[in-house]
Amino acid sequence: MVPTVSWQDGAVVMIDQRRLPGEEIMLECRDHVEVAAAIKDMAIRGAPAIGVAAALGIALGVRRSPAEGAALRPAFEAICETLRVTRPTAVNLFWAIERMRRRFDALQAAGGDVVREGLLEEALAIQREDLAACHRMGDLGAALMPEQARILTHCNAGALATAGYGTALGVIRSAARDGKVLQVFADETRPYLQGARLTAWELMRDGIPTTLIADNMAGHMMATGHVNAIVVGADRIAANGDVANKIGTYSVAVLAKENGIPFYVAAPVSTFDLDTASGAGIPIEERAEDEITHHSGQRLAPIGVGVRNPAFDVTPNRYVTAIICERGVARAPYTESLRALAEAE
Ligand code: MRU
Repeated sequence: MVPTVSWQDGAVVMIDQRRLPGEEIMLECRDHVEVAAAIKDMAIRGAPAIGVAAALGIALGVRRSPAEGAALRPAFEAICETLRVTRPTAVNLFWAIERMRRRFDALQAAGGDVVREGLLEEALAIQREDLAACHRMGDLGAALMPEQARILTHCNAGALATAGYGTALGVIRSAARDGKVLQVFADETRPYLQGARLTAWELMRDGIPTTLIADNMAGHMMATGHVNAIVVGADRIAANGDVANKIGTYSVAVLAKENGIPFYVAAPVSTFDLDTASGAGIPIEERAEDEITHHSGQRLAPIGVGVRNPAFDVTPNRYVTAIICERGVARAPYTESLRALAEAE
């Protein structure tokens, strides 16, 4: 299994996803500022993985902080803030920080050592639970896949984007284990190429038949009968079931509806944002222009051209066949089904 992120001898260690698939290099973060930089620069990315990394980063930051007594609270808050401002769209980041804050609140009175141990325990629990959630989503989602499945996926919602196994790729892995997967089509996912670089790498490591396509080929592949299911991940799911995910997901969903192909979203409950009524309230990250104007350091576009680079889009709930989470499968009307799953357990 891909070693996405782990706690090793007082450091947060992750595979540097910027270097994949060419090089498998581990990045060791020795303080929370380095973890925050790794998230911001996308050495680690994918909504649940960002949440796990942030939780481990908080545990690391507090462990290295000399603060004691009343000074612990402001030190903790400053560490959280450094991690909070890294990326705006994946709600798992804010969910993980809140969970760490609740643990801090519960332990603060007991003193520094207890807080430090407790925060590490909490971060490792977040990691463990995410891995278990991915396996559960995989099994629930595999049951929804057709026999002889020809599945299209967008971006990377795999082991690299989670504590392991993946959300969308977890569904694909479980379906492959059950002998149901004939072919996976991985959208290359312009401009950052998570599909070409990461999804193709992950699936090939597992021996799952994978075909890479450019994003603008997805409609043609659907219309010519090559695809019979679509599974993607999510960065944030609003209360009404609108789904924010990697830019280009919306186009895939519209094309899926046009071609009568089911469009599934796999995401843990930590990706639900029931305080946000609809996708209109989800902040969309804008990234640097050079992701669009350059390729591998080489300028492609004329100097001075206007550029937009929204990293995510929102797929309205009407395009979503079902949302698979670790507690079950939600279908429309999502306002009720998502709340029921969020409150389950
Ligand atoms: O910009 P990224 O690579 O962090 O975006 C990742 C995605 O959009 C994934 O599809 C999403 O986070 C789900 S990961 C299980």
